Amino acid sequence: MSYAQVYGQWQQDPEGFWLSAAGGIDWVQKPTKALDDSRAPLYEWFTDAEVNTCWNAVDRHVVAGRGKQPAIIHDSPVTGTRHTITYAELQDRVSRLAGALKARGIQKGDRIIIYMPMVPEALEAMLACARLGAIHSVVFGGFAAHELAVRIDDCTPKAIISASCGIEPSRVVHYKPLLDAAIDQASHKPDFCVIFQREQEVAKLTEGRDLDWHEFQHGVAPADCTPVAGNHPAYILYTSGTTGAPKGVVRPTAGHLVALNWTMRAIYNVGAGDVFWAASDVGWVVGHSYICYGPLIAGCTTVVYEGKPVGTPDAAAFWRVINEHKVRSFFTAPTALRAIKRDDPDGKLVPPLPTLQALFLAGERADPDTIHWAQTHLKVPVIDHWWQTETGYAIAANPLGIEQLPVKIGSPSVPMPGFDVQVLDEGGHPVSPGTLGAIAIRLPLPPGTLPTLWNAEDRFRKSYLTHFPGYYETGDAGYVDADGYLYIMARTDDVINVAGHRLSTGAMEEVLAGHKDVAECAVIGVADELKGQSPLGFLCLNKGCNRPHDEVVRECVQLVRDQIGPVADFKRAVVVDRLPKTRSGKILRGTMVKIADGQPWKMPATIDDPAILDEIARALQSLGLARG
Ligand code: COA
Ligand code: AMP
Repeated sequence: MSYAQVYGQWQQDPEGFWLSAAGGIDWVQKPTKALDDSRAPLYEWFTDAEVNTCWNAVDRHVVAGRGKQPAIIHDSPVTGTRHTITYAELQDRVSRLAGALKARGIQKGDRIIIYMPMVPEALEAMLACARLGAIHSVVFGGFAAHELAVRIDDCTPKAIISASCGIEPSRVVHYKPLLDAAIDQASHKPDFCVIFQREQEVAKLTEGRDLDWHEFQHGVAPADCTPVAGNHPAYILYTSGTTGAPKGVVRPTAGHLVALNWTMRAIYNVGAGDVFWAASDVGWVVGHSYICYGPLIAGCTTVVYEGKPVGTPDAAAFWRVINEHKVRSFFTAPTALRAIKRDDPDGKLVPPLPTLQALFLAGERADPDTIHWAQTHLKVPVIDHWWQTETGYAIAANPLGIEQLPVKIGSPSVPMPGFDVQVLDEGGHPVSPGTLGAIAIRLPLPPGTLPTLWNAEDRFRKSYLTHFPGYYETGDAGYVDADGYLYIMARTDDVINVAGHRLSTGAMEEVLAGHKDVAECAVIGVADELKGQSPLGFLCLNKGCNRPHDEVVRECVQLVRDQIGPVADFKRAVVVDRLPKTRSGKILRGTMVKIADGQPWKMPATIDDPAILDEIARALQSLGLARG
C-alpha cells in the first residue's frame, strides 16, 4: 500500500486503524475499544486493556525463541569497552532488578527517578520499573542538582536509581554528589537509592539510604510482569516549557506500545533481528522511544552508545559503530552531523556503509547543507522527521517502511497516520498552502501521545488545548506546501533548541534574576553554526551596582550552570542599560533575535523607546553578533 492509502485508511477509520496496529502487541486483556472520549477534550486509548511493557520488550522475544539474539550492544569509546546483552540475559537481569525493587516495597504506580549515564543498566532500570508497573522518570545527566530536585518534588519518587559517574570526554561527571545535593534541596525524600558503581569511580554510599546495585539484588527472587491498565502511566518525562517549572509529560502504557511498534516498521523499516541505533541519550524522549522501548518492543538489537560524534576519538566514530555492529537504521540530531561535517568537510573519513539503509534526523531543524553533506557521503536516504517529547514519536516523516516519498530538503515530509496537522492563523482558521502559521493537530491525538501533564491537568489544558479549541497546539510555526509537505520554521514560544536539546529561556531568566546585582534580564536564542541556537543573556544591573561587568557576567554564567546544568550551554551574556519593550511592558525578544542574527527586521509599532534597539545592536556587535 502507498502512504496515501495508509493515511486514507486511518482517516476513514481511526479506531479500526489503531485496533489493527494493536495486533502487534501481546495483551493480558485485549482492548475491545480503541478511543475513550468520555472526558473530551482529554482523550485516552485502550483503557479497557491490560498489558505489560516489559513483557513486550523482553520476555516475548525469549518465548519466541530469540533469547540468544543480542538485545543491547553497549559501545563505549569513552571507557574503551563494548559488550552485548542477549534477550535471555536481559530478561534475567531485568527480572532480578525488578525482584529487588519489589522486595523493597516498590509497587504498581510508585514513581522511581533514574539518573544515569549511557549504560545498559539505565535501560534495565527503565524496564524493571515497567515490569512492576512502577512509573519511571529519567533525568538527563547534564542537568544540575537543582533541576533534579525540582523533579523529585514534582513526581515524589519512592526510590532513585543512579550511577557513581558518567564520562564526558573532558571530565568525569560525578553523579553521586549531584544526587546527594538534589535530595538535600528537595522537600520530598525517597525511601532509598540504588547506586550502580562504575569502574571509573566508586561513590561513597549514604548509610541507611543508599544500596549498592549488585548487593541489593543478591539472593532476591526475580519478579514476574505485573499487568497494568492500558492508560496506566508508563513514565513521566520532564521537558522545557516557557517557565522555569518543567512539564511532566505522561506516557500512557498501551498507546506507547502500539504506536512505537507500528513506527518501527512503518517509519524506520526495521523488524526483529535488525540492528537499530539512535545516537541520543536515555534522558531525552528519543532515548526513551528509540534507544530503549521502540527497538526492543520490535525485537531489534539496540545500540547504547556512550560517546560523542567527534572527539571519541574522531569524526569517524559513528561510521565505525554502524559498520562494526551492522546497523540498518540510524537516528541522530543534525547538530551531531554538523560537528562531523566541521571536522571532515569532504567526508574523507566516511567508509562504505554496506548495512546502512537510511539516516533519520530529528530534534531540530535539519539545514540543507547538512542534509546535502549526508546524502553525498553516506549514500543513503536522509530522512528528516519532526516530533516532540509530548508525542513520543514522529508527527511528520517519510515512512520508509510504507513507501519512500520524494525527499524535499528542508521538510520533514508528510503527516503520519494519527496526526491531522493544520496550519492556523491567530484566529484559529486554517491558512492556505505556503502561508506561515501556528502548527496545530486536530484532536484527538493518536495513541501513545500525552494524555495530560503529571499532576497538572490545568497546565496541560492551558498549555496545549486552550489557544485553539479542538486542536493540540504544538508550539511550532511553519507551513504546508501544495504537495502537503510540512516545513517547521520556528517556535511560537520562548523555547529554544541548543544542539537538539530543548531549553527554556524563561528558566534561564529565572536563574539570572536571582543574581543579587541583576535588576532585569532577558535570554534569547541566537543562531549558532554548530548547535542551531545558542542562548544569550541581556542583564540590566541594579542602580548603584558599579562592579566590573565581566565579573557579573561570569557569575551569571556560573549560576546557570550550577542551577540548570552544563546542558543549558549558557556561556554568553552582556550588560545593557535597558531592555527593549512594548508600551505594555513585553520584552521584544523576537526583534532582538533578528538583530543578533543579522536578519532584516521592522521597528515594532508598539515599541516604547526605539533608541534602545541601537544600544542592543551595539552590545551584540561587541560580541561579534548583529552583522549582516
Ligand atoms: N552529562 C553531563 N554533562 C553533559 C552531558 C551528560 N550526559 N551531555 C552534555 N554534557 C555537558 C557537556 O560536557 C558540555 O559541558 P561543558 O560546557 O563543560 O563543555 C555541555 O553539557 C554542553 O554539551 P553538548 O551540547 O554536548 O556540547 P559539546 O560542545 O560538548 O558537544 C556536540 C557538541 C555537537 C558534539 C554535541 O552537542 C552533540 O553530540 N550533539 C548531539 C546531541 C544530540 O544527539 N541531541 C539530540 C537529542 S534527541
Ligand atoms: P523535544 O521535545 O525535545 O523533542 O523538542 C521538540 C521540538 O524540537 C519541536 O517542537 C521542534 O521545535 C523541534 N524539532 C524536533 N524535530 C524537528 C525537525 N525535524 N525539524 C524542525 N524542528 C524540530
